[in-house]
Amino acid sequence: MSDYLGGLFSLKNKVALVTGASSGIGYHLCRVYAKAGAHVVAIARRESQLIELKQTIINDGGSADVLVRDLSLKLDFPEFVRDISSIAGSPEILINAAGINLRQSADETTVEDWSKTLELNLSVPFFLAQALVPGMINKSCGRIINVASLQSFRAFENGIAYGASKGGIAQLTRAMAQAWSRKSITANAIAPGFFPTELTQAVFNNQTVLKQHAAATAIGRNGEMQDLDGIAIFLASPASAYITGQIIAVDGGYLAK
Ligand SMILES: NC(=O)c1ccc[n+]([C@@H]2O[C@H](COP(=O)([O-])OP(=O)(O)OC[C@H]3O[C@@H](n4cnc5c(N)ncnc54)[C@H](OP(=O)(O)O)[C@@H]3O)[C@@H](O)[C@H]2O)c1
Repeated sequence: MSDYLGGLFSLKNKVALVTGASSGIGYHLCRVYAKAGAHVVAIARRESQLIELKQTIINDGGSADVLVRDLSLKLDFPEFVRDISSIAGSPEILINAAGINLRQSADETTVEDWSKTLELNLSVPFFLAQALVPGMINKSCGRIINVASLQSFRAFENGIAYGASKGGIAQLTRAMAQAWSRKSITANAIAPGFFPTELTQAVFNNQTVLKQHAAATAIGRNGEMQDLDGIAIFLASPASAYITGQIIAVDGGYLAK
């Protein structure tokens, strides 16, 4: 790669904190960021998956630390960030990829299901970012990347709490941009279409539904993990310095139809 392109897109000497790192999109983006030169800090609850991820990143030629944490509002976020910074250095990049979708109808959703979904999908991304912002300001560089969804824009069946959380994350992204962009911190979100992960197993196990979703895109297929690589690197890199408050769909044109 030319020095010019390398400079625009390199994540060398950056620390990337990734939640939801034990599977799916978070796991994949940990590998992508490590390949782009960042030191990755991978967070999730399942330790064995995180240990396997760290070894995979090392085998790829990258570096990572892993931290087992249950992300909830019970966490002391400033203390958590101090722990991370003492192990890996203060992160410039945050990917809020931890998320759940309990797939319940409006009528069966309980207060507990609602709170659990909104807490992990919407509240944790805000308080984690808030705790990381002082370190980003110190480094004059911050890249907050949230994970939105088709459900940030469209209502799907059996997704009332999830849809509310993802609608919220779209607006949270804009509000974060408003709050922090003057301090050299950008906040953007990636809105994936359907990608094969544990979260979408029910969809990918149902060929009829899967084909319907593929047909609903302009491109004619569902997502493959590597479809996320370019935008994830771009939004974390110097190349996107003047882009903030945006929700960028990686959905094969699903929302465009
Ligand atoms: N897959 C798609 O097509 C798609 C589409 C649109 C948006 N998304 C979004 O993409 C993000 C990643 O989802 P995914 O599809 O990659 O699903 P996934 O494979 O199920 O990953 C979810 C991750 O969240 C972590 N997590 C769940 N509860 C947690 C908790 N209490 N504390 C800490 N970590 C927790 C899980 O790790 P542990 O269980 O080890 O804690 C796991 O690593 C989510 O925000 C999801 O809404 C996905």
